[in-house]
Amino acid sequence: MNHQSLVGQFAHIVGPDGIISDKTEHDAYVRDWLGKWTGLTPVVVRPRSTTEVSAVLRLCHQTHTPVVTQGGNTGMSGAATPDTSNSQVVLSLTRMKRIRDVDPINNTMTVDAGVTLAQVQQVATDADRLFPLSLGAQGSCTIGGNVATNAGGSGVLRYGNTRDLVLGLEVVLPDGRVWNGLRALRKDNTGYDLKHLFIGSEGTLGVVTAAVLKMYPAVRNRQTAWIGFERLADVVDALRGLQDICGDSLTAFEMMTQASLDLVLGHFNSARSPLQSPVAFHVLAEVSHTSATAATTPFEDALQALIERGLAVDVALASSTAQAVEMWGLREGISPAQVAAGHAIKHDIALPISSIPQFVQEADSICADVRPEFTVINFGHIGDGNLHYNVLAPASLGEKSYKQAVEQLNRLIHDLVAQYGGSISAEHGVGQLRRDELKRYKSSVEMDLMMTIKRSLDPNHLMNPGKLL
Ligand code: FAD
Ligand code: MLT
Ligand code: ZN
Repeated sequence: MNHQSLVGQFAHIVGPDGIISDKTEHDAYVRDWLGKWTGLTPVVVRPRSTTEVSAVLRLCHQTHTPVVTQGGNTGMSGAATPDTSNSQVVLSLTRMKRIRDVDPINNTMTVDAGVTLAQVQQVATDADRLFPLSLGAQGSCTIGGNVATNAGGSGVLRYGNTRDLVLGLEVVLPDGRVWNGLRALRKDNTGYDLKHLFIGSEGTLGVVTAAVLKMYPAVRNRQTAWIGFERLADVVDALRGLQDICGDSLTAFEMMTQASLDLVLGHFNSARSPLQSPVAFHVLAEVSHTSATAATTPFEDALQALIERGLAVDVALASSTAQAVEMWGLREGISPAQVAAGHAIKHDIALPISSIPQFVQEADSICADVRPEFTVINFGHIGDGNLHYNVLAPASLGEKSYKQAVEQLNRLIHDLVAQYGGSISAEHGVGQLRRDELKRYKSSVEMDLMMTIKRSLDPNHLMNPGKLL
């Protein structure tokens, strides 16, 4: 079927205001947030309901039309961008915004896939509850995208990844059938847990149209601290030291090197370091209590103990909410600062926490050996063993040399990650970014199992072709 008649049929399903066929209006849908990938699409289709998604996928199935599902388009692996063939339809779910149900007694909510993460958090707050997924893109990423990437963020230490926060899903399959798995149950052992197939599947198996999400008791009392260290081994010891005293109330433990902080300070004129002097490693730690009157002393004592044990060299405890927000601003500012600096070579890796100091020492020495003129920007969710071990190439580097550097560093860093039993994608998914590397680090049995699942659910290979597998 030619593009024009296909567009007409889509318009029939979602209404004329639900399609964007004018290419001058496609930019936000065909280019990713990092500005690394740009594709082409004949049409952006914006359904409002599961019924419309089902009809769209049925038509795509009948006409063999490939589909790239998209939420907020904030992904970091190029997984939501169409290729340049101008054949892949972008299915944008941002008009699916219904809050279907909120049940504070069951501690669950059921929402459409296009609801943004910030809106989901607000729904929980309005019900005097907490939805704990939290990441820098929360104002624009969607819960469908969070599910499809199994997003992590800064609350994983206490609450887990998106996978741990989802009780049920509604998914439209590639042939247009709807699987209603919107069960709000914490126990259900009736066979294979199908929702887990779709969580983290990056739009390659079906379209998530709604989710049942867990809510938690609201946080009424938070303490935020910025801690300075000279050695990474001390950071890791401090994590366990804080957990020994604060237990589960330690809800964030984020690390950044001085070079990462300097990048942020250079990018945002008004930003300043919470510490008096530069240190090798900075940590943003937070404890959260459900009781407004919870004692604040355990955290303060634990921080004091870090100094007394010679682990931490300096501590700044936020004395107001505004100060805590400023600290988080420094942490969340690293990604935009990197984009502005250009030429970042990103590595989103997971490692056993105990091996992080040794790994970083080796990785730093590899980078210094092979690319002495580059700057390592190492930061991340160290409490989860997740580092964003990024390397900034000089802005003056030509495109070809940059690409060679990307290949060289990816290979060296990821081979080292593999030696340490780590993962080459901790939370950003595979997308286009890691697709070709995946088979080097997954066993043939794993690749085979994934291909078997893909073939059985999407035999015509229409869902997000060219991504993940
Ligand atoms: P998109 O980018 O639109 O899509 C991502 C993938 O999901 C694609 O494969 C797409 O096809 C698929 N998809 C989207 N919606 C659906 C659906 N309804 N059904 C099926 N498939 C779908 N990520 C983290 O994990 N942790 C972080 O700390 C973090 N910080 C970030 C900070 C910034 C500033 C930015 C820009 C991004 C950050 N990210 C982080 C990455 C990104 O925000 C997450 O991956 C997020 O989950 C993507 O959601 P989205 O709605 O934007 O999805
Ligand atoms: C973050 O944690 O800020 C993002 O996941 C990191 C990134 O930009 O690599
Ligand atoms: Zn992250």
